[in-house]
Amino acid sequence: MIFDILTLFPEMFRSPLEGSIIGKACEAGLIQVNLFNIRDYAEGKHRVTDDYPYGGGKGMIMKPEPIIRGIEVIQADNPEARVILMTPQGYLLRQELVKKLAQQPHLVLICGRYEGVDERVRDVVDEEISIGDYVLTGGELAALVVIDAIARLIPGVLGDEGASEDDSFAQGLLEYPQYTRPREFAGRKVPEILLSGDHLAIEQWRKQEALRRTWERRSDLLSQAGLSEGDHRILDELKRSSGTE
Ligand code: 6GU
Repeated sequence: MIFDILTLFPEMFRSPLEGSIIGKACEAGLIQVNLFNIRDYAEGKHRVTDDYPYGGGKGMIMKPEPIIRGIEVIQADNPEARVILMTPQGYLLRQELVKKLAQQPHLVLICGRYEGVDERVRDVVDEEISIGDYVLTGGELAALVVIDAIARLIPGVLGDEGASEDDSFAQGLLEYPQYTRPREFAGRKVPEILLSGDHLAIEQWRKQEALRRTWERRSDLLSQAGLSEGDHRILDELKRSSGTE
């Protein structure tokens, strides 16, 4: 998987990408991240990349030519690459979209800065993505989130076991509670059932706790989680015993 990043701040990527799991994936050639400085595609002695908004208003807007020239340079050698603009106005990144993007061989991630990019950049991108309902100072951290979320789905990146079907969101639910040693810490015990060796009972308990946690924290996820009849029975029982229904 190749990621080409168009940014005014390539140095923001170096240390996160050298970190353990992603760094190893780069070294192993499982992913490749190429950094392109938008300023290199700007013209004139000062290589200006932003300007005042037409119509007035506060802040600066990223000029279209340097970004579009950068995209064209990358596309000249990689016509199949999918071009994505990172913007809080984009389509919300969820695990489902991460899975879809992980199928692509080559992504170009454009990191917007300041108060936004000239609208004409939108005409030349394939897709716009946001990582959540809050505003960042730029798309760089969002692009790192996209790279990290995709990379861990690529076979080999997470080692032998790989990404799990039990991970939060893998089945549309939050993950069940996990414990490791010691059996008792500061008077707080590991649930007895996890020590029982009864794999079926453990699986059922984990499903119940995943449902409980999702219902308590993210009930918005339940309608899209593809729950079975059995899951609905468990949920109804959880609701009954909590006294709210
Ligand atoms: Cl992709 N960019 C910025 N600047 N803010 C964001 C975002 C992206 N996603 C959520 N907030």
